[in-house]
Amino acid sequence: MSSLPADIHRIPADRLGALVAAMPKAELHIHIEGSLEPELIFQLAQRNRVALPYPSVEALRAAYAFTDLQSFLDIYYAGASVLLHEQDFEDMAWAYLQKAAADNVLHAEIFFDPQTHTARGVPFKTVIDGLSRAVDRAQSELGVSASLILCFLRHLSEEEAFATLEEALPFQDRFIGVGLDSSERGHPPEKFARVFARCRDLGLRLVAHAGEEGPPAYIWNALDVLKVERIDHGVRCVEDPTLVQRLAREGIALTVCPLSNIKLCVFPQMQQHNLAQLLDAGLKATVNSDDPAYFGGYMNQNFAETFASLPLDAAAAYTLARNSFEASFAERSQKVKWVDRLDESFARFAA
Ligand code: HPA
Ligand code: ZN
Repeated sequence: MSSLPADIHRIPADRLGALVAAMPKAELHIHIEGSLEPELIFQLAQRNRVALPYPSVEALRAAYAFTDLQSFLDIYYAGASVLLHEQDFEDMAWAYLQKAAADNVLHAEIFFDPQTHTARGVPFKTVIDGLSRAVDRAQSELGVSASLILCFLRHLSEEEAFATLEEALPFQDRFIGVGLDSSERGHPPEKFARVFARCRDLGLRLVAHAGEEGPPAYIWNALDVLKVERIDHGVRCVEDPTLVQRLAREGIALTVCPLSNIKLCVFPQMQQHNLAQLLDAGLKATVNSDDPAYFGGYMNQNFAETFASLPLDAAAAYTLARNSFEASFAERSQKVKWVDRLDESFARFAA
């Protein structure tokens, strides 16, 4: 695969904003339930006759003032309570995929949280059928490829994760892997050692949230105990230089979510975000939106705000976009085609 385009230095600095918006990219860290906009929450609440504890879209949006991960999760799970039918899941995912296409996302690996729905009596089949329909439509109508990654909620038990896996197995052809999300502190990766080992035996791809709020030890154990292939977030790795060296040496991707990190107070302001530091350390960092309806924007908003606030140039933009394709779980031949499109995009800006 190509390294930096030879004429990248010819891209004028004042074109950087347009470049990061226009360049092809992949999104590897998006919780589909976190793409549920307040307007759609209210629409679905009405359609499904679900009562919401907020009187209006504005009142709901005004509640999006988070102090940490848990304060967000409480509202995020309440928002997801309006999802009942296959059509609801399709509508939610379709809305996200259209936004992704508009941001020049060619490929998305989408997390979903089945336990948030099965706990309310919504069958796993309803969830996966609705999401799959949107994924299929994205390919045929938008030319966007998308895959699904089932996340286990780490505040629940490993036994419950095993039960969810059993429900999911008849649909194993519809998702490519498993992840681990929800409340990080107090729920270390090793709590899920056996269920991840089973998923590995089943040939599923493995990722986990680690080092968002949790310590570097959670990243080590996600790698060594769960044997994950990517780390979601991972920004706290910088507290452990030996860990940084290992992540760089092994080329383990970090799916960084800048706007999420600001909204959940992982960093006080974008100027303090460590994305540039991660790239300088040779880490395979990517930019992602996490829960775009809650955190202030989709992919291009994340790129726009990080590039406006941090010392990132066209080479960093190229590296981030290339990393997103290379760190994806797509076929190698497909990755080569995407990187070719990335090179063409940069060549247009250098011309
Ligand atoms: N972290 C952990 N769990 C989550 C997140 C997150 O940012 N978003 C949705 N579930
Ligand atoms: Zn996340």
